[in-house]
Amino acid sequence: MNRHATSSAYLAIDQGTTSSRAILFNHQFEILYTAQREFPQYYPKNGWVEQDPEELWLSVLNVAREALTVASDLKLSVKHVGITNQRETTLVWNKESGLPVYNAIVWQDRRTSGYCSSLSVHENLVQQKTGLKLDPYFSASKIRWILDNVQSAAELAANNKLLFGTVDTFLIWRLTNGNVHATDVTNASRTSLFNIHSQQWDEELLALFDIPAGLLPEVKDCAADFGRTQPGLLPLVLNISGVAGDQQAAMVGQGCVTQGSVKATYGTGCFALVNTGSQCDINQTGLLTTIAYRLNGITHYAVEGSIFVAGAAVQWLRDGLGLIEKAADSEAIAGQVGNEHGLVVVPAFTGLGAPHWDPDARGAVFGITRATTANDIVRATLESICFQTHDLVTAMSSGGNPPTILKVDGGMVANEWFCQYLADTLDVPVVRPKVMETTALGAALLAAFQATDITELNQLAEANPCQREFEANATDSDREQRLTQWHKAVQATLHMAK
Ligand code: G3P
Repeated sequence: MNRHATSSAYLAIDQGTTSSRAILFNHQFEILYTAQREFPQYYPKNGWVEQDPEELWLSVLNVAREALTVASDLKLSVKHVGITNQRETTLVWNKESGLPVYNAIVWQDRRTSGYCSSLSVHENLVQQKTGLKLDPYFSASKIRWILDNVQSAAELAANNKLLFGTVDTFLIWRLTNGNVHATDVTNASRTSLFNIHSQQWDEELLALFDIPAGLLPEVKDCAADFGRTQPGLLPLVLNISGVAGDQQAAMVGQGCVTQGSVKATYGTGCFALVNTGSQCDINQTGLLTTIAYRLNGITHYAVEGSIFVAGAAVQWLRDGLGLIEKAADSEAIAGQVGNEHGLVVVPAFTGLGAPHWDPDARGAVFGITRATTANDIVRATLESICFQTHDLVTAMSSGGNPPTILKVDGGMVANEWFCQYLADTLDVPVVRPKVMETTALGAALLAAFQATDITELNQLAEANPCQREFEANATDSDREQRLTQWHKAVQATLHMAK
């Protein structure tokens, strides 16, 4: 690998669902500095989730400025930035004024579930072309909603005056002062408008969702020239050199660059992806087929299981129920409670994702008795995230190749009780890496790929070795008993939604 002077660094911008981070990495890909800001979420109606684009933008600007000011103080030379982002979240803005015509509609938002059902005869077409389900999760139905419901949006679109972007595109557009309207293939592959075989925006899908092609950004490799930041906007002018959706970036940051390697990231939701190399078979077991990354025009695919609520359930314990003061308290509490509580929490707050795909399902708690305590609820909530991961891994294994280890990352894996229970539930070792900020690391690695003479991603894959391995340690009967209770609870929850 081409090593650079230690006085230079890469910046990674990680624009997540609830917070934005800017992280400086040295050329050994160690973290030098992290700036982080949370920003508000809005829930205007049942099932709706929005963000204010200006609050999101300011959070990014502030963390990037903070990190680059530190870089200047440390006399670090920073020339390249990688961007990674919450995927599917949909923004539409006026090309001339630069102002969004509506709030960002967040990936968790279910307002278009009726509209998606009305298109159900086209489900197979959408799945064959995009690898995705016909579900409100993805961007296309959210764009349609904006065109149908925001005054004059359809007219502006017809006059070629509107632009659409996922969060990466919006940030690139703002960072380059409107000079670049582009995305990368991973983000494009989450819109329901991108044909993952031909790697083009698909005319038939654009017609199905009735979306004018003029709204769409140019689609590039994950390591590419996405333009330069506008002089004066940040303390340094940077080349935007790497872009990927956060789950795909986490795959790169976990070194999951060989066929068959699997990672699960526990952020707001949980997303488990297995690298399938050049194989792009449309998954039939309730999982998604998606693009893992494209470098030098060569595409690697992945099969993905998406759970909408993971860290968000811990947030609910803290902010919604007030059962814990801070997320980290859940670790000690879960450890104090035995496994005989018999409680099952199904955290279907915004519907159920893979492998069930029911946007109308809502959460439930089963097995409450007079003896149930707040601590039981805390433990059962953490358990539910392990059970959901189990269902994803089972669906992934149905092709006959069950994962032999699971690489994990994201905020929740700091919780060692959770990692151990996950290994016990899956009955495979769970591996936690040294750099747990794999999403940001992936973005920095993609920027490095573009900035240096590196030609193979596996030249960078060793950047993040194992920090701790959790061995599976439960009896088959314990595991099976809890999983049976869980599956009954999920069936009851799905039944309630009918
Ligand atoms: O698909 C949604 C996903 O990209 C959001 O990730 O980390 O914000 O839960 P996260």
